[in-house]
Amino acid sequence: MSLTEQFVEYFRTEAAAFSHEIERARKSDPLLFDDMAEYLISIAKRQLGEAYLDILIEGYCTFVMDVNRSQEKYEKTGKYENSSYKEVFQRTYNDTDFMNQYHWGVFVTTFAWEHHLNIYRMFRNDFLPLIRGGDSVSLLDLGCGSGVWHLLGLKQNPNLAVTAVDISETSISLSRQMAEAAGYDRLINYLCADAVDFSQESRYDTAISCFLLEHLEEPQLLLQTLSDALHERSYAFITCALTAAEIDHIFEYKYEHEVFQMAYEAGFRIVKSLSSSPGSFPRERYYLPRSLAMVVQKRANPVW
Ligand SMILES: C[S@@+](CC[C@H](N)C(=O)[O-])C[C@H]1O[C@@H](n2cnc3c(N)ncnc32)[C@H](O)[C@@H]1O
Repeated sequence: MSLTEQFVEYFRTEAAAFSHEIERARKSDPLLFDDMAEYLISIAKRQLGEAYLDILIEGYCTFVMDVNRSQEKYEKTGKYENSSYKEVFQRTYNDTDFMNQYHWGVFVTTFAWEHHLNIYRMFRNDFLPLIRGGDSVSLLDLGCGSGVWHLLGLKQNPNLAVTAVDISETSISLSRQMAEAAGYDRLINYLCADAVDFSQESRYDTAISCFLLEHLEEPQLLLQTLSDALHERSYAFITCALTAAEIDHIFEYKYEHEVFQMAYEAGFRIVKSLSSSPGSFPRERYYLPRSLAMVVQKRANPVW
């Protein structure tokens, strides 16, 4: 039995209420799901040892329950529960116990949610093939979390030389362990720092920033940092959440065009975008949580 089959089966027996979403994602594109899940679960297994299935399930279920609780509150109040980055930082990114669970929750959603699987399809088919270069292509990952996106990139293109930045010491430590488990640690340089004011003298060939914009008070600043860090005409992959409440979501994007406008103002053109929402969501809800993914290119002039 493959690791993916074991994972799905274990979920079905141990956390039946949470398994439908995962099974729906798998049914939507079995080949893509199994390809991605097998790789990611194998890394988690190497890192966590025999208890890996329990840890993944606990992390995922805790994360999903928190997300559902926050979204219900948001439906009632019409706003996200937190507005101060400083407070969120103390309660989440700076709290080792919280981050240990959050890490595995976010990690599992990357392949277990159908709308995130759609985003991975775009990352693989529309972003990674644009990364060209010689023996070494520099990639900057801002807000790397578990490192899942650059690990997926490295699987397809082992010529990447990654700089991974995250503000949480726990995220940096866990993602370093993930890279060791995947055998890519020598290709990744980790920095525990605020991505918003990250700067280095050299510029990068390409960049990723996934699900960080909505965590900030002023996401425009992150987009500017990302743009400043890139060579002209280089490509980046950016994702963010819209009308999706979570304990650490601060900036409420309501419409896709708000993100496009910010990206344009930071010096990008939008090459491709996908606004992806859960396959099944209660029709009576006012807010539809979406994940927006964009392939962008740093412009050299106002047009492109
Ligand atoms: C939702 S997770 C996304 C992680 C990863 N990019 C992914 O898509 O799986 C958000 C991550 O951003 C990090 N983060 C939050 N504020 C940050 C900041 N100002 N600078 C760098 N990282 C930050 C958190 O520690 C967390 O690891």
